[in-house]
Amino acid sequence: MWELELMVQRSVSCKLSTFLLHLLLAGFISPTIEAGNSLIPGQPLYDNGTTLISSRGRFELGFFSPASSSRRYIGIWYRNISQTPVWVANRLSPIDGRSGRLSLSGEGTLIVTAVNSSTINWSSSNVTGLTNPEATLFDDGNFAVREAGNDDPDSFAWQSFDFPTDTLLPGMKLGWNVTSGLNRQLTSWMSADDPWPGDYTLGIDLQGDPQLFIWSGLQRLPYWRGGPWNGLHFSGALGMVDPKLFNATFVVDPHQVIYSFNFLDPSPISVLVVYRWGSLRRLVWNGGSGDWSVVWSVPMDSCDTMSVCGVNAVCGVNALRMCSCLSGFLVNNVSSWNPSNSYGCSRMSPLDCGNGTDEFFKFSRSKLPDTSMSVVDRRSMSLDQCRESCMKNCSCKAYASSDISESESGCIMWMGDITDLRLYGDTGGGQDLYVRLAAFELEDEISNQSSGMSRLAVMIAVPALAIFLLVCIAFCVCRCRKRNNCVVVKEIEEEDLDLPLFDLATVLIATSNFAAENKLGQGGFGPVYKGKLVDGQEIAVKRLSNTSTQGINEFKNEVVIIAKLQHQNLVRLLGCCIQGGERMLIYEFMPNGSLDAFLFDEAKCMLLDWQTRYNIIVGIARGLLYLHHDSRLKIIHRDLKTSNILLDQCNIPKISDFGLARIFRGDEMEINTRRVVGTYGYMSPEYGMNEIFSIKSDVFSFGVLILEIISGKKNRGAYQSNYLNLLGHIWSLWEEGKSLEIVDKSIGSFLEVEVTRCIKIGLLCVQERPQDRPTMSLVVTMLSSDNAIPEPKPGFIVALDSSNSSIRKQYLLSINNVSNTTLEGR
Ligand SMILES: *[C@@H]1O[C@H](CO)[C@@H](O)[C@H](O)[C@H]1NC(C)=O
Ligand SMILES: *[C@@H]1O[C@H](CO)[C@@H](O)[C@H](O)[C@H]1NC(C)=O
Ligand SMILES: *[C@@H]1O[C@H](CO)[C@@H](O)[C@H](O)[C@H]1NC(C)=O
Ligand SMILES: *[C@@H]1O[C@H](CO)[C@@H](O)[C@H](O)[C@H]1NC(C)=O
Ligand SMILES: *[C@@H]1O[C@H](CO)[C@@H](O)[C@H](O)[C@H]1NC(C)=O
Ligand SMILES: *[C@@H]1O[C@H](CO)[C@@H](O)[C@H](O)[C@H]1NC(C)=O
Ligand SMILES: *[C@@H]1O[C@H](CO)[C@@H](O)[C@H](O)[C@H]1NC(C)=O
Ligand SMILES: *[C@@H]1O[C@H](CO)[C@@H](O)[C@H](O)[C@H]1NC(C)=O
Ligand SMILES: *[C@@H]1O[C@H](CO)[C@@H](O)[C@H](O)[C@H]1NC(C)=O
Ligand SMILES: *[C@@H]1O[C@H](CO)[C@@H](O)[C@H](O)[C@H]1NC(C)=O
Repeated sequence: MWELELMVQRSVSCKLSTFLLHLLLAGFISPTIEAGNSLIPGQPLYDNGTTLISSRGRFELGFFSPASSSRRYIGIWYRNISQTPVWVANRLSPIDGRSGRLSLSGEGTLIVTAVNSSTINWSSSNVTGLTNPEATLFDDGNFAVREAGNDDPDSFAWQSFDFPTDTLLPGMKLGWNVTSGLNRQLTSWMSADDPWPGDYTLGIDLQGDPQLFIWSGLQRLPYWRGGPWNGLHFSGALGMVDPKLFNATFVVDPHQVIYSFNFLDPSPISVLVVYRWGSLRRLVWNGGSGDWSVVWSVPMDSCDTMSVCGVNAVCGVNALRMCSCLSGFLVNNVSSWNPSNSYGCSRMSPLDCGNGTDEFFKFSRSKLPDTSMSVVDRRSMSLDQCRESCMKNCSCKAYASSDISESESGCIMWMGDITDLRLYGDTGGGQDLYVRLAAFELEDEISNQSSGMSRLAVMIAVPALAIFLLVCIAFCVCRCRKRNNCVVVKEIEEEDLDLPLFDLATVLIATSNFAAENKLGQGGFGPVYKGKLVDGQEIAVKRLSNTSTQGINEFKNEVVIIAKLQHQNLVRLLGCCIQGGERMLIYEFMPNGSLDAFLFDEAKCMLLDWQTRYNIIVGIARGLLYLHHDSRLKIIHRDLKTSNILLDQCNIPKISDFGLARIFRGDEMEINTRRVVGTYGYMSPEYGMNEIFSIKSDVFSFGVLILEIISGKKNRGAYQSNYLNLLGHIWSLWEEGKSLEIVDKSIGSFLEVEVTRCIKIGLLCVQERPQDRPTMSLVVTMLSSDNAIPEPKPGFIVALDSSNSSIRKQYLLSINNVSNTTLEGR
């Protein structure tokens, strides 16, 4: 019976959601009336469903509204793929209603205005000298103003291909007309529903040997470097176009620097697109699934971030350490050697150029370093001649051949420090780079290939060991002192705790008698106040409210558990105060408050960029790993949620609120409890339904946390009309391969691989069966490695409805067969 009901409901809601989907898309595709492929003066194109269609029907031009927006733009799209505009005219000045009009002036200037309005929303650059102008949409997607009937592209007075938006179509040019200064570049959309220029721009930089770049922001900071052209592809963009399918060309001459690609067989549909989070992707249209497939995407990993390792260093993702110095170089600042803040490396021995004794060390499979300080000679110079020229010129620090398409030929010479060099290693790609070294360094190098590494290792290891010893000694001294000062409270004496006791007067002074303005919020069992001790230390005081009967147990529980724990990612208990009927816990103060206050606040969430969020995820994972496996006790937190994650001044996350935590014995795998505690939305299905909890229940909550951190949305609460909760929504996007759509808009730039990995781990953690979920130690490993992560298994996702008294009455979201179906079970 139940089964039957499910079936019926499934098919109904499935139809419903397809219907909704159509409604959503309806803004885009209203039935169209073709107005031929050309526009002539005096016959404008109105926003009444009329469009231009290219002669063989491949492209269409007309008014459209992106995604959920109601604003109208003039755009061009593949006729069959109306949801993806490849060009937008008035991206800066949309028309508010359907009153837009695209017209061609008698001189040949295209103009977008609203009917009955004199303000011009958009116009093409002024065109002169045409007697009989015509604006035609061609079958390659180019919209051009020309003398009627003249098909020669070189004579076009204006063309959309010269003003690309975020998409490079086959046959379109990227780069410069050096003579006229015209620079064709791609700029991402602001968001999925706003074509306004976003933060990322793809273009070609002319300094030195011309290179492909993605820049970010108005300052155009280099974000990703595709590197110089090597005859086949950009040095750092192997796979940007598949040579079996495309003919990619790069033209460098005094008049132009142009990249373009064309299909060898024109039938497939494929484009290059810059996305709002900073990635460049090549998409191929998959007619079968009716969607784009991503076949290539950069930045592909951390080594693709511009200059992560600093000067004269090399980045390798599969190496022992991501950053290391070039052979013959030493790290400049051992204490700052981390990927994001590097002072780079400098030469161990000065070059001896005058005597001509220098040698070159060969790096194989390299992405050529930044060539903006290089000189290039494209003549058919051999590699030996290149070496000779480099040797002769004392400013030359490295060389490589500039063209590897047939044999190695041509010559690039680097005239300064080597920056942004990466090695591809066994993954393939890259070419040989020769770096200048003093002769005896090279001998050294040959006798001991890894000396650079081992020297670095020693440089790091020795001070690190010393610091470690010092810390150990300091720690022991501190602990001994503390022990002597400790006053153990009678009530919790049996538990044998080292817990300093605070005097009530001290706490009252620190919090100004629990002044209302010092109240920080409401904790598990009572209000929390901010305070300041006389020595200036800031504290947070958690006060057990008198009315709470449950509170006293939770209070004791928290003291017992947290007093025994010490970890960077757990909030630190400084002491307690039990005096005059008051029971209080005193913690270190966390100036940045709790994670939920940042995450779900529109203004504050801007402060959490992807790197910060990633660090928070990793921090929480480490804290939880410590609770589950590494501390002296085995502890299940049972109430992990964003409001229980506090952030210190460096945004290091600290797990707090151990009122509901439980210690379990080593042999206990799961615990059956009489009372279900925890927070709806974070609770695992087996706990909600069967009152069984285990460390895997915490893993579930952690999965919810990851997904909330990435999406900036709460799991609970209606997320989108046809999905019950965030988890269900993400599951279905994941299955469609579109999981990046959930990424919070305010997250800024991010590495697709990292975010995708985190989403995948999040989904693994919220799998229905506890045994399918990973342990926290596995989670920590997966977070930090690129090794294969298993595919999460789709299953039932349970969203508990707190407004309903019976926990068993649940809304289930089945992902099993139908991806977006909601059902209610009895
Ligand atoms: C759209 O407007 C044009 C110009 O006024 C007109 O010729 C055409 O019939 C209109 N189409 C529809 C569907 O109203
Ligand atoms: C567009 O769709 C039509 C009919 O569905 C089909 O005949 C045509 O080949 C498609 N064109 C492209 C470019 O996919
Ligand atoms: C574009 O036209 C609309 C009328 O629909 C007007 O409200 C808007 O201000 C115009 N924008 C610009 C930038 O001119
Ligand atoms: C434009 O003005 C004419 C005459 O004033 C009016 O009939 C028409 O409805 C107006 N159109 C729009 C879109 O406002
Ligand atoms: C086009 O010409 C007009 C009149 O000569 C001038 O006002 C306008 O600024 C020009 N526009 C551009 C984009 O050059
Ligand atoms: C560059 O632009 C100028 C002026 O528009 C034009 O005459 C020339 O042909 C263009 N050069 C190339 C290589 O496209
Ligand atoms: C590739 O493009 C270049 C320049 O456009 C052209 O000369 C060459 O013939 C093309 N090759 C093929 C195989 O289409
Ligand atoms: C080395 O790095 C540390 C940490 O980033 C920094 O505080 C210090 O000033 C640096 N030292 C030098 C000599 O640059
Ligand atoms: C050349 O080598 C000699 C001996 O190795 C050294 O003393 C001299 O300074 C070197 N000359 C230069 C210009 O480096
Ligand atoms: C070395 O090359 C640079 C760049 O081409 C050039 O400016 C410089 O004059 C050269 N120096 C010598 C000594 O040839």
